[in-house]
Amino acid sequence: EEMGLFRSRLLSWYDRTKRELPWRALAATEEDVNTRTYGVWVSEVMLQQTQVATVIDYYNRWMKKWPTVQKLAAASLEEVNQMWSGLGYYSRGRRLHEGAQKVVRDLSGEMPKSAEKLLKQLPGVGRYTAGAVSSIAQGQVTGVVDGNVTRVLCRVRAIGADSSSAHVTDTLWKLADALVDPDRPGDFNQAVMELGATVCAPKNPQCAQCPVHTHCHAYSKVRLHQDRGARRL
Ligand code: ADE
Repeated sequence: EEMGLFRSRLLSWYDRTKRELPWRALAATEEDVNTRTYGVWVSEVMLQQTQVATVIDYYNRWMKKWPTVQKLAAASLEEVNQMWSGLGYYSRGRRLHEGAQKVVRDLSGEMPKSAEKLLKQLPGVGRYTAGAVSSIAQGQVTGVVDGNVTRVLCRVRAIGADSSSAHVTDTLWKLADALVDPDRPGDFNQAVMELGATVCAPKNPQCAQCPVHTHCHAYSKVRLHQDRGARRL
């Protein structure tokens, strides 16, 4: 029940406040899972080292020129590099292109259909990207952990230990997998990312605006100390 409330509060906040982003529209409206998977893969690779605001135009131009994995596979590397110009870290664009050629050549044009297969079969796709693509584009019930998710989950569980340690990383992936909403895994994962990018910011988090502050152990600890402090005064 506690977990159900956490999910429903977070998702209703997301439904009210989420940004309309082109890859979200694609995930919501495109009926072909192969096309959804391709588009969300492109968006997640662009978002790896680039801000959302910058990615939007690049994503729209890319998808207009290469709306399917087959179209991307048929492009030249020169065209890909030209399209990527200004995004930085050109190896990301090159790996998308290589991945598309591999999908067409070795997988009959079928994008891999699980996080595990995406991770194994696509160059440049790590655990985070595989989980994000499979949950957002394919509805696979799998959690994701990136920098924003790490901060949110460490606060919710009041994990003070170094979040880059192997033990904490392992704990966070298990926690993300346990928390993800089985009915809306892609929205849930994007809601946690969005909470971390906005309300649950690194500095001056806006706890009063947070839809899950009643579930947050860091929040209740601070409140406890503030109340004690107030009582002493
Ligand atoms: N950063 C990484 N993935 C994202 C997504 N799907 N939406 C917004 N920001 C993101």
